[in-house]
Amino acid sequence: MVSYKEIQASNALINDATAPRVSVFVGGTSGVGKFTIRALASTGASVKIYLVGRKSSEEPTRAFIQELNTINPKAHIIWTEGEVSLLADVKRVCEGIKEKESRVDLLFLSAGYAPFGTRKETSEGLELCQSLEYYSRMLFILHLLPLLRQSEAPRVISVLGGGMENSRINIDDPDLKQPGNFGAMKGQMQYIAMNTIFLEKLASENPDVTFIHSWPGWVDTGNARRGWDEGSILARVFAFVVETLIYFFGFSHEESGQRHLFESTSAAFGGRGIPWGGKPGVNSLGKAENGLFLVDYKCDCRLNAKVMSTLREKDQGKIWEHTKNLLQPYL
Ligand SMILES: NC(=O)c1ccc[n+]([C@@H]2O[C@H](COP(=O)([O-])OP(=O)(O)OC[C@H]3O[C@@H](n4cnc5c(N)ncnc54)[C@H](OP(=O)(O)O)[C@@H]3O)[C@@H](O)[C@H]2O)c1
Repeated sequence: MVSYKEIQASNALINDATAPRVSVFVGGTSGVGKFTIRALASTGASVKIYLVGRKSSEEPTRAFIQELNTINPKAHIIWTEGEVSLLADVKRVCEGIKEKESRVDLLFLSAGYAPFGTRKETSEGLELCQSLEYYSRMLFILHLLPLLRQSEAPRVISVLGGGMENSRINIDDPDLKQPGNFGAMKGQMQYIAMNTIFLEKLASENPDVTFIHSWPGWVDTGNARRGWDEGSILARVFAFVVETLIYFFGFSHEESGQRHLFESTSAAFGGRGIPWGGKPGVNSLGKAENGLFLVDYKCDCRLNAKVMSTLREKDQGKIWEHTKNLLQPYL
């Protein structure tokens, strides 16, 4: 485990020269993304942050942006409205960013929740949580890769369940559309594995970009309440149990933000960034070099080697092709 003291010491070295100067946060209107933005702004470094969120969150986010400007007058926060569950809107948002920026240093993706209730589809025909946790995230990456490649230390972080992959994903029905294939656990397992295997292929094609699939552990963000059908008694019982566990065993907002800022900036993952004197992080291929890192809540790198080997052999090609075909109209 990387201790909280080590995390804080590393983050204390973030300044104008070492900070990710241009970041895009999708999912930063609440939870882990929001805590990470706060931690980044609190470094006092000169940073520009595109905060992408849906229209309904613009008003509630105004006070947060004011808070950030007070903490750090050198933080330039650009509210960017986008319905990120819709791939057409992801494309529109990315094109807007590409018009204004020549480079992006950090792309931080954390929108989503587990699909506990009945299956809900977006107007584009995708299961809502799968779109938020997988397709929309991968589309952001594909669009912004040319800008990331212009950075000296580009980094992409997808917050979901790195290291928790399960090899029993449904490869014949990747979008879980057939009756009986969809469910909260089946969905989350499918989206976690799809994230990892697509990111690993992206990492192999973009050796200069550092990719992290983060598993944040338990953090009290209200996430356990999302995704349920309205009025569900099971939802209340579930939220009570989970939130009690999180209360006793979860990370504070502050620590979660600091840990994800460390993941966003430390050379522990791939060698570039804030110098790291500890054990170098090991990528998903078991090597202490750049690539995809499956980083858990302790900021340790996991391998999940047996499962990953099966996924690589059996599913990676199919998921890659399926995803590229599905996203093609929005590229
Ligand atoms: N928190 C945990 O303990 C935990 C544990 C393991 C994994 N995770 C996963 O890690 C990721 C980040 O978790 P978190 O707790 O930070 O999440 P969160 O705070 O509950 O939500 C993160 C973001 O998702 C956006 N979002 C939710 N529904 C949306 C929709 N229908 N359309 C557009 N945006 C939507 C939210 O936007 P609004 O502000 O507009 O609602 C928010 O910006 C999630 O995928 C979660 O499943 C979380």
